[in-house]
Amino acid sequence: MREQWGTRAGFILAAVGSAVGLGNIWRFPYVAYENGGGAFFIPYLFALLTAGIPLLIMEFTIGQKYRGSAPLSYARLNKKAEWIGWWQVAISFVIATYYAVIIAWAMSYSVFAINLSWGEDTGGFLFGEYLKLDVDPGQIGSLVPGVFIPLVLVWIVALGVLFAGVKKGIELANRIFIPTLVIMFLIIVIRAVTLEGAAIGLDAFFKPDWSEILSPGVWVAAYGQIFFSLSIAFAIMITYSSYLPRKADVNNNAFIAGFSNSGFELLAGIGVFAVLGFMATQAGTTVGEVAAGGIGLAFVVFPQIINSLPGLNGLFGFLFFASLVFAGLSSLISIVETFVSALQDKFKISRTKAVLFGGGLSALISLLFATQGGLFLLDAADHFINSFGVALAGLVSVVAVSWFFKQLNPLQKHGNEVSDLRTGTWWKVCLGVITPIVLGYMAVQNIINSIS
Ligand code: PFF
Ligand code: NA
Repeated sequence: MREQWGTRAGFILAAVGSAVGLGNIWRFPYVAYENGGGAFFIPYLFALLTAGIPLLIMEFTIGQKYRGSAPLSYARLNKKAEWIGWWQVAISFVIATYYAVIIAWAMSYSVFAINLSWGEDTGGFLFGEYLKLDVDPGQIGSLVPGVFIPLVLVWIVALGVLFAGVKKGIELANRIFIPTLVIMFLIIVIRAVTLEGAAIGLDAFFKPDWSEILSPGVWVAAYGQIFFSLSIAFAIMITYSSYLPRKADVNNNAFIAGFSNSGFELLAGIGVFAVLGFMATQAGTTVGEVAAGGIGLAFVVFPQIINSLPGLNGLFGFLFFASLVFAGLSSLISIVETFVSALQDKFKISRTKAVLFGGGLSALISLLFATQGGLFLLDAADHFINSFGVALAGLVSVVAVSWFFKQLNPLQKHGNEVSDLRTGTWWKVCLGVITPIVLGYMAVQNIINSIS
């Protein structure tokens, strides 16, 4: 029999655990700031309601109705659709290999934070001392011990959880990780908003800039953030919902998961910009000068700010990087589970074997990113996935389900039967019309950008 979640809360925590990740903490605040600040909330909310939640409902319903990993669920939906599931699994596989590496960095940095051992030149420390990019090219292939050791730890935790199964592994881990994450992050945000200059940062973050509100770029950014942030079209949500009991309420769960993820995103925006406001004030410059996102924000700018925080700055730094670790691990577990589950279904093998082969292989490949040329590889992999993976896979799945295999009506019927909250025509319009247009536009743009 297929494994099952122990409780409804367990499933929701796992779905939220997958959704809440690095994207919430270092991607959202900067994307929002760059795309109109307070004004960005309109396209963002629109994207959440017209694409994010409808797609979550679709994926939850597919998983729950067809009760299989993504390839098996798509195959049961229609024999000709199995490859869509494999495509999503393949994307997840690639992402897992480099997502794990970034969690490993965060693990190292949570230790460095305690003694501020990154020193004054935080950029030089990251690229030179930590990642060892400044060595001669002949050394490119050799492992960097500082990254290798935490990376092994990350995989031990992730695969250990997956060996233990859905209820005793994934559910239990998220029951511990997510509350811990929320508490740590609340402490960070409370400290952040009480810093000198916090108000200036929050003002920069929330101040609406209406001038760009009608430009397509802003809307694409909003939809892009929502897709990435909700882990949509990565086979994850189908896999997780395939472990739901037959009568579980999918529609409501999608709303809860969607809003929880956005709530965390907002919290992160407040924390990050309060801290940036502090930094701008200390440096006598504007928030615009110090605002950043991604790896640069987390591993260069934040360590620099942590250096100059008043009182207990080591603890603050530790909490920040530990939050990245917990948020990242719960997302990593969810992506690896997509291919573990797919291997189990396809080859009729045990969970143990699937974790050993699938998880083991991605762990091995991830070692490539722990070498002295690792950062370039990581950049290339991320670029490749973003150009040809995410939007295109999302587009294909939604067009296939709604137009090609005409599954919106049967899926809606199923979803409404098991749920208190019923979806109406709006749901079909979102999936059949709005989402394909947006995803189509994004997919074409990504490809054009990556060629030119
Ligand atoms: N949704 C996660 C985030 O916002 O950080 C990111 C993510 C997790 C992307 C898992 C992809 C994935 F497979
Ligand atoms: Na997210």
